[in-house]
Amino acid sequence: MNRTGDWIAERVPISLEGVAAMSNEPVPYHLKRWWFALGGTPAYLFVVQIITGVLLAFYYQPAPATAYESVRYITEDASYGWYLRGLHKWGATLMIAAVVLHQMRVFFTGAYRRPRELNWMIGMTILVCTLLLGFTGYSLVFEQLSYWGATVGANISDTVPVVGPIMKQALLGGEVYNDRTLSRFFILHGAVLPVVLILVLMMHIGLVRLHGVTELTFEGEEKKPAKYFNFFPEHFYTELIIGLTLMILLSALATLLPVHMGPPADPLVTPEVIKPEWFFYTAFRWLKLFSGTTAMLTQGFIVFVMFFWPFIDAWLVRRFKYADISVWIGVVGALLIMGFTMWEALVAH
Ligand code: HEM
Repeated sequence: MNRTGDWIAERVPISLEGVAAMSNEPVPYHLKRWWFALGGTPAYLFVVQIITGVLLAFYYQPAPATAYESVRYITEDASYGWYLRGLHKWGATLMIAAVVLHQMRVFFTGAYRRPRELNWMIGMTILVCTLLLGFTGYSLVFEQLSYWGATVGANISDTVPVVGPIMKQALLGGEVYNDRTLSRFFILHGAVLPVVLILVLMMHIGLVRLHGVTELTFEGEEKKPAKYFNFFPEHFYTELIIGLTLMILLSALATLLPVHMGPPADPLVTPEVIKPEWFFYTAFRWLKLFSGTTAMLTQGFIVFVMFFWPFIDAWLVRRFKYADISVWIGVVGALLIMGFTMWEALVAH
């Protein structure tokens, strides 16, 4: 080793061979296909969100009197502000889509089954945190839709029995949207949720490492000469190419479909059409179909079932002696979500 290397090794006595062995896990062959290695994609996008989010926070001012103007300044005046905002906005969209796709691949390959039940539940916590990040971020701009979206969101949580009013109070910092509300959204969006997400992701990846990725066998596929390949450098290069492709895609979206300013928030004028972001379309359509409390309780029940799905699935498989029962339930669930999302996207009310 050279002098600098010796100097560092003496002060930070970590065995480089040990680190190399730890990071160089054997990866099953099917992870050569992007669909099976989708977990790395939201991880990459989360890093993009943290970097662009910190840069946006240099300019953003979380108060009703200043928020809209500060976002306008970023979008129209600050150097490359439009690009940063575009990366952050499109990064959020792609991250949520990637998390959902990764969850779907885990679901449809049955990779949540014993012994990975806990990692599925950790994954569900990640999903909830990601959606909450989307909701709180959307509320920061202080446009008409973000203001009314936040107000409607708080009123909806109010309909949950017992804890609803406390949740609403905690979110708004009062009975109604007020001067303290935006700073709450900002702290949740820029500090609490990202830190929770980082901690939960560490547990998630830690468990993936401890269990290894589920080995899958494909019908009619010719046997590969080797079942595993090394994480480093082979899988690392795959992830690098995915990361670079995503960066090009994000840049193209931010440039070709730039994010504009909507009309500023006006607490006295309710817009004719209030819509949340696309990832809440299913929940919003559900709310329109059923009364507030029924809608919230049924949605809570669905999330509960999703959380404990590995155990429910194990019981169903034992009861009906049919291993693919979850696939059919998943297909029906996915079609319903797509149907509700398109329904909400296509109609005004
Ligand atoms: C930011 C979000 C997430 C990140 C960065 C992430 C990351 C990863 C990575 C890198 C893997 C290794 C295999 C692969 O690449 O597919 C993995 C596996 C896994 N993930 Fe995630 N994940 C996220 C969200 C979720 C969600 C929402 C769920 C489910 C509710 C979930 C459940 C699982 C399970 C059960 C495995 C093990 C799969 C197997 O062994 O084949 N993850 N995750």
